[in-house]
This record gives sequence, structure tokens and C-alpha cells, in this order.
Amino acid sequence: MSAPLLEAVALWKRFPGVQALAEVSARFGAGEVVAVMGENGAGKSTLMKVLAGVHAPDAGEIRWEGRAVRMAGVAQAEALGIAFIHQELNLCENLSVAENIMLGREPRWGGCWLDRRALRERARGALERVGLAVAPEVLVESLSIGQRQMVEIARALAREARLVIMDEPTSSLTSGEAERLFGVVGELKAQGLGVVFISHRLREVEAVADRVVVLKDGRNSGSLRRGEIGAERMVQLMVGRDLDPARRRPWEVATGAVRLEVAGLRTRAWPGQAVSFAVRAGEIVGLAGLVGAGRSELARVVAGVDRAVGGAVRVDGVALPPGRVGAAVAAGLALAPEDRKEQGIFLEMSILENLALPGLGRMQRGGFVRSGQVAALGARMRDLLGIRAAGLEQAAGLLSGGNQQKVVLAKWLALGPKVLVLDEPTRGVDVGAKAEIYRVVEELAAGGAAVLMISSDLEEVLRLSDRVLVMHEGRLAGEVGRAALSEEAVMALATGTFCP
Ligand SMILES: Nc1ncnc2c1ncn2[C@@H]1O[C@H](COP(=O)(O)OP(=O)(O)OP(=O)(O)O)[C@@H](O)[C@H]1O
Ligand SMILES: [Mg+2]
Repeated sequence: MSAPLLEAVALWKRFPGVQALAEVSARFGAGEVVAVMGENGAGKSTLMKVLAGVHAPDAGEIRWEGRAVRMAGVAQAEALGIAFIHQELNLCENLSVAENIMLGREPRWGGCWLDRRALRERARGALERVGLAVAPEVLVESLSIGQRQMVEIARALAREARLVIMDEPTSSLTSGEAERLFGVVGELKAQGLGVVFISHRLREVEAVADRVVVLKDGRNSGSLRRGEIGAERMVQLMVGRDLDPARRRPWEVATGAVRLEVAGLRTRAWPGQAVSFAVRAGEIVGLAGLVGAGRSELARVVAGVDRAVGGAVRVDGVALPPGRVGAAVAAGLALAPEDRKEQGIFLEMSILENLALPGLGRMQRGGFVRSGQVAALGARMRDLLGIRAAGLEQAAGLLSGGNQQKVVLAKWLALGPKVLVLDEPTRGVDVGAKAEIYRVVEELAAGGAAVLMISSDLEEVLRLSDRVLVMHEGRLAGEVGRAALSEEAVMALATGTFCP
């Protein structure tokens, strides 16, 4: 076998309180797609950051085309031909698509004045290679997450990258966007580039990977070749035990009185559509639909984050004042939002501070926070969801992506809400933790809460919901009961191809 493009040889990396990498080795070749898998906090992103020159390893060697190199920084890794697309995308929103693609390598007249025409043309070429039909002049802030992902890949191509590292590229994509991405990955591979692909979605990995490298607790836990790649083996290597993802709640759920009532609610995104439904105590109701169908807008209005254009939201029969989150929380309604970085979590604050925030009113006496109570709550939530951190005092921003997501959830679960609205609750969360989160949500419902769950992951919707409401272009296109629940039934309503 010829030398791989990039090779990690017994890499070690320690952060305060955690051994993120311990003797990790891996090879990444030209013309192959290698998936790196592992639980949240297993060290996947850290390995990539070390290989791409973001962090220096404590020990071990990095080889590029068989020769040992010292990655002195991101610029050097880029110069070698490594493009790293981060878990949290890294584009400048207020610059144009072309400027982002050519950032740092802008063509200039006589080395001085920006050559705008050449900038546009080169960017256009890169955009064509990823099949993204947007004008180079468009500002990145106006693009969808899927489109931004493609811009990142175009940027890698414009830099003549030979190895493209994608850290959870699909976690925020619609299924259509993800398909497009896989098409591009296939083309990169055909052109002889190496691709490293991190994902928690087993099906995706089965579809695109030539080889799988699995990490567990910062160590190599195994690897699989093409013919060996299958969901069960991957889960075994990641988690160290079998999971039963298909386990469902008992067929008949005991439901109580109506807890959440949404009556004629109209959002700013779809002011012409009035939405009405109810969720009973003990019920988990899925809210499905394509991205842009108006699910998140609806959730935000229900929770008082945004003001409704019309209609009412009632909790246990009492109408909530419109557009007031505080009042909704006080009434026992909590929303765990979809965008954790912007709405869910304070990155500079500690895990404990984040967890305590929504319930702070209850844990105060005479203006002082009762720190004992806060600490107990933190420990309980950490154990409940299996949050992996050096300690609860750690800044939330230093957690791995999936663990940040668990903090967002824990924060709202800690309130013991009567009504819980979840928007994409398991984005970026590993298979084992997903099962934990499902259990916690089911227990909450069994305890009498009403749960409304938005998810683009159909498997998750089918697994967890007692019934599913489907939105299409801002209105409720229909409802699928437990007995009739299937991917086809939900998709038919979501795409508007269902004719009653
Ligand atoms: N800059 C940092 N400072 C301190 N600890 C860190 C830092 N970066 C990562 N860690 C810790 O190192 C461990 C590995 O994190 P890493 O981000 O590599 O996990 P991951 O496998 O990518 O997980 P996920 O699937 O959740 O993205 C975690 O315990 C994390 O909290
Ligand atoms: Mg990660």
C-alpha cells in the first residue's frame, strides 16, 4: 500500500482535566472517504484539530505523504493541502460568497488592488464544482446552512486542498441537502481527494464511507473496512455494548387532560395560516415537516419567544400573555431551541451556571443564590444525561458539540416543565446519548408532562411520538396516529403529495 496522504501516529493530547487523545493512530488516503466515529467527547474533533494544526499534540507524530511534519499552525496545514471544515461553520457572514471562498488569497492587480472580476470568476469556478447555484456577490448571511456548507467546500477546492476534513457536516442539513453533499463527496473522491467525514448518523456512514475509524474515550477502539461497515458493529465499537434503538413506548399511552392548547395561532412567517392542536398530559407529539414548513417559528411563538400575529396558547386552560418567555416559563412551558449557539447556551459561562439559569428564581433566597442547591441540581443533570466534562465549573464553550446539546436540554429538564417543546433535541448527539435522551423525555411524559417535539430525523420522530402532526407551508397538513405511523405516511403529508 502506498503511503497515505495524512497519518496520525500515536498522538496524545491533554486538556485540563481530560485526556482528549491517548495514543491515537489513523491513516487517511487519497481517493477514499474515511469516517471517524465515536461518542460525544470521544476526541473526534480534537484529533482533527491536531491534524489540521489548530492544537499542537503533546506527543506523537503527524506524517504527510509519509514524511513527519510539525504542524506549526493552521496556515501550514492549509499550505500542505488540508482543508478543515469545522463542526461550527466558520464563514464571515457579512462578506460575500466570493470573498469567503477567496479569503486570504484574493487576486490582486500588481499585488495591491483587489481584482474583483478575477475574484468573482475564480469563486464561480469553485461554486460550479460543488454544484451550488448562488451568485458570488450574495452575502453569506442570506444563505441556508446547507448552502454555507457548500461554500466551505468550495473554499477548500479553491485552495487546491487534497484532503478535506468535514466535522459533522450533515448535522444541520435537510435530507435533500445531505444527499447533495454526498454527491459532492463522491466527486471529490473520484478526483482523487481524500475526505474525512465525521457523523453520528449510522446510515450516512454506511452510505459514504470506505473505511471507519472509531474512537472511544480518546483511544482507538477499532476500525472497519468497506465490507464490515454496519450499524451494529459501529455501535459496538463506539458504545461497547448493544443498543436497541427500535424500542418504543408501550402502544397504549395513558393520556390525561389537555395540557397544551394551541388555538388559531398565526406566526409572522405564515400569517395567513391559523394552526390549532392540543397535547394531553402524558403525550409525546411529533411535529414533522420539511425545513421551512414553519415548525420552528410555531415553536417560538408557542413558547413566547416571538409574538403571535393572532391566536392563543393555553397551558392547563390558562392563556399565556403573548410574546413573553418569562410568563411561559412561569406557567411551566419550556422550549429547548434548535440553534444552541445562538439561543440555547452561554459559551463563556460554566455548565453549572447554564443549568441553573432558568430556575434561578427558585434557588434564591434574599438575593443570594443557594449554591448547594445549584450544585446538587448540576450533579443530578450530569448523571441523568451523561454530560461528559472535566467538571461542572468548566466553561460550556469547551465542551464537545454533543455535550453542549445535552446541557441545553438539561437546563430545561431541570425545571420539571409541564409542557416541554423540543426543537431538534438530538442534533449532534451520539447514539448512546440519544437513547438516554429518549428515556428522559419518555419519563417526563410518563410523569404527566405534555411534550411537543420537532425533529428532522424521521427515525427519531417515529421512535418517540405517540402521534405526529405534519406541517406543510405553514399549515397543519394532517395528523398520523400511532397505528398508521410510517416514514411514507409522514413524508406524503410533509411534501404535500397526499390527497385525502
Ligand atoms: N479547548 C478545550 N479545552 C478543554 N477541553 C477541551 C477542549 N476541546 C475539547 N475538550 C475536551 O476534550 C474532549 C474531547 O472533545 P472533542 O470535541 O474532541 O469530542 P468529539 O468526539 O468531537 O465529540 P462530539 O461528538 O460531541 O463533537 C471532551 O471531553 C472535551 O470537553
Ligand atoms: Mg466534535
